[in-house]
Amino acid sequence: MTLAALTLALVGGLASSGCDSASAYEQLSGEQIYARLCTQCHGTEGRALHGRGGSYLGKRKYWTRATLLEYLEDPQAYKRKAPHLSAAKYMPPLNRYVPPAARERLVGHVLGLMDALEAGRR
Ligand code: HEC
Repeated sequence: MTLAALTLALVGGLASSGCDSASAYEQLSGEQIYARLCTQCHGTEGRALHGRGGSYLGKRKYWTRATLLEYLEDPQAYKRKAPHLSAAKYMPPLNRYVPPAARERLVGHVLGLMDALEAGRR
């Protein structure tokens, strides 16, 4: 097999495996995407697991749909604009295969979790 043919075979194999293609996220709700990509650090309610991820408690005031979308795209870069975030903690960027409409659903779910934690505090 030539190198070009081998490369084509590899690329074709990755594309058709489909485990992380945009279409996988198009069908999922914000909650389902959150369960897949975020709960391992933040927990289903956003309280954070074992001190790993940032807890969402008391954080609602820092975020809008627009700033949250921007943050998820590149958390390290956004940190410079958000003094409440910790310089010592690492938050990975959102999987680039998540398409725009699915990002909107995800952000809606995250803000809903923040609202719920806020309401529980009162
Ligand atoms: C590998 C662990 C990990 C994963 C996976 C992860 N996060 Fe985070 N996240 C963190 C950490 C750690 C912080 C705290 C970062 C800081 O303080 O700078 C954070 C911070 C945040 C914040 C800011 C909270 C605040 O303090 O205002 C939001 C919002 C957030 N994550 C949402 C998400 C979403 C949505 C996903 C899934 C797409 C996700 N995270 C996936 C570890 C993670």
